[in-house]
Amino acid sequence: MDIILNNHTQIPNIGFGTYKIKDPAEAYRSVKTALELGYRHIDTAAFYENEAEVGRAIRDFIATGAAKREDIFVTSKVWKTEAGYEKTKTAFERTMEAIGLDYLDLYLVHWPASPTQSDDWEAINLDTWRAMTEIYHSGRVKAIGVSNFLVHHLKALMKTEVVPAVDQIEINPGFLQKDTVDFCHTNNICVEAWSPLGRGKSLEHPLLIELANQYQRTVAQIILRWELQHNIIPLPKSTHKERMIENADIFDFSLSSEDMAKIDAIEPYGNSGHSPD
Ligand code: A2P
Repeated sequence: MDIILNNHTQIPNIGFGTYKIKDPAEAYRSVKTALELGYRHIDTAAFYENEAEVGRAIRDFIATGAAKREDIFVTSKVWKTEAGYEKTKTAFERTMEAIGLDYLDLYLVHWPASPTQSDDWEAINLDTWRAMTEIYHSGRVKAIGVSNFLVHHLKALMKTEVVPAVDQIEINPGFLQKDTVDFCHTNNICVEAWSPLGRGKSLEHPLLIELANQYQRTVAQIILRWELQHNIIPLPKSTHKERMIENADIFDFSLSSEDMAKIDAIEPYGNSGHSPD
């Protein structure tokens, strides 16, 4: 199912994450398999060093006639060392060259400049955002957004000409980042979850195992369903076909509000510890 972004473009409500799939053959095979299985939303980034293989898999899949370019939602991101107007524009050209597509559906600022790193953090983010806005107006990306922006970072962008359409942040059980999620939803910014399974660690949590038994689903499905019911788009990554199938099979059951609340109350467990601040 699709969600409508604040600029009226549509985004599928589950995506396929490609972080840490660096080996070229594996990146190509994983994305191609995900597309063959029905995933229509692929998330990459310059930092993942797999844009070329991700793009090639998408192009080859389209060449089979199984889908058109406009059926597939493709995201990439500008890395934090490329902050600022000129560097962001150059980084975008590199991404487009590597990925080999005419346009991206979504281009994200991967990490914000933060008050802990620089007194000029707001000006740096606004400068990067000016480049993002120009790229958006060029028509080569259908939407622009951010990643790892917390409320204070987002607030600094809310008065700009084009408000971010998406904030992609780390979310897994025990790490809902409710302040940021609430701020985004109040301001019509769509939230995506990176590391939705806590890099696999969340799969070991006893409460989630208990709920999986109760619902007769897998632990991964319980977690991804919990994110979906919070109106968050999960981007699970897997290099295994069976797991890709399992992770996308979350649309024929729902968690009760009591069980949602139980998962909300989990203490920090599988989160990475990475913070923009
Ligand atoms: P693999 O790629 O070997 O299948 P996240 O998306 O939170 O970053 O988690 C990704 C990690 O979770 C990867 O190590 C991936 O392993 C593993 N994983 C993804 N889906 C499943 C699943 N359905 N069951 C078990 N492990 C999974």
